[in-house]
Amino acid sequence: MIQQAQSTIEIGSFHDPDSQQVDHEVAVSLKNCSLSFDDVKVLDDVSLDIYKGEFLSILGPSGCGKSTTLRLMLGLLKPDGDGVVSYDATKESIGMIFQKPVLMPWLTALQNIEVPLNLGPEKKFNKKQRREKANHALELVGLYDFKDHFPHQLSGGMQQRIAIARALAAEPTILLMDEPFGALDEFTREKLNMELLRLWKSPDNNLKTVVMVTHSIQESVLLSDRIAMMTPRPAAVDEIVTVPLSHPRNIDMEEQPGFYKTVKTLRKKVKQQ
Ligand SMILES: Nc1ncnc2c1ncn2[C@@H]1O[C@H](COP(=O)(O)OP(=O)(O)OP(=O)(O)O)[C@@H](O)[C@H]1O
Ligand SMILES: [Mg+2]
Repeated sequence: MIQQAQSTIEIGSFHDPDSQQVDHEVAVSLKNCSLSFDDVKVLDDVSLDIYKGEFLSILGPSGCGKSTTLRLMLGLLKPDGDGVVSYDATKESIGMIFQKPVLMPWLTALQNIEVPLNLGPEKKFNKKQRREKANHALELVGLYDFKDHFPHQLSGGMQQRIAIARALAAEPTILLMDEPFGALDEFTREKLNMELLRLWKSPDNNLKTVVMVTHSIQESVLLSDRIAMMTPRPAAVDEIVTVPLSHPRNIDMEEQPGFYKTVKTLRKKVKQQ
């Protein structure tokens, strides 16, 4: 249930090019969230509504507070004062992919996905279900044949796909990703970008809403429905840009006027900061 879900910023309407409908249902809402670490103010009155079913990217200069914003969304941090974070989801239905895969080196790919499913107070899956879910997630990211490999036997891109599979196996409806492709080469990055879009749109999993922090303007435009540009620290939402591209996306869309116009708008914004 949404405890509180009001937008305090004017962002215009969100247009889902797939459904041709305007959808304003909110999945995650940050309302007037400020946060300081000791004397350092990191977030300054951040208000942001993430709509159900959308792919939203967060862009902003290094150190401005993007990871802190995601940690607020995940509930690892609490806003100061009167700030409110609310969800139309249970905590268990929110998944997180960190910038580095953080796999356990002594466990196989399969075990790395299976074991965390047994954590948490609810233990919602039995052993058989955990095995099934882990196998299914490996299939989704195309790594079923590598299920018995240990992390050191996998490339960086494959390890990141295991981390994505691990997050998906828990069947999140909301996926938070902190620069998931930042450390990858361009070729692997492009491939995983498209794989992620396929998974997001696939009826084979519960995933509905994606929030991704990225440093790449191009990546944010190619993948997202909307992009939240943050100000330098202390971060606030500077502007929200709606991407005028339809779904399904593909890499050739980088040649469309809507793509490069949006990239140009965002670049100009970065220069002004
Ligand atoms: N646990 C912490 N204790 C103290 N300061 C912190 C903590 N976490 C983050 N900070 C500070 O908060 C600020 C924002 O950090 P954050 O990691 O959110 O930035 P970011 O936008 O994600 O940066 P990057 O793009 O480099 O990943 C930084 O100045 C950082 O030093
Ligand atoms: Mg960060």
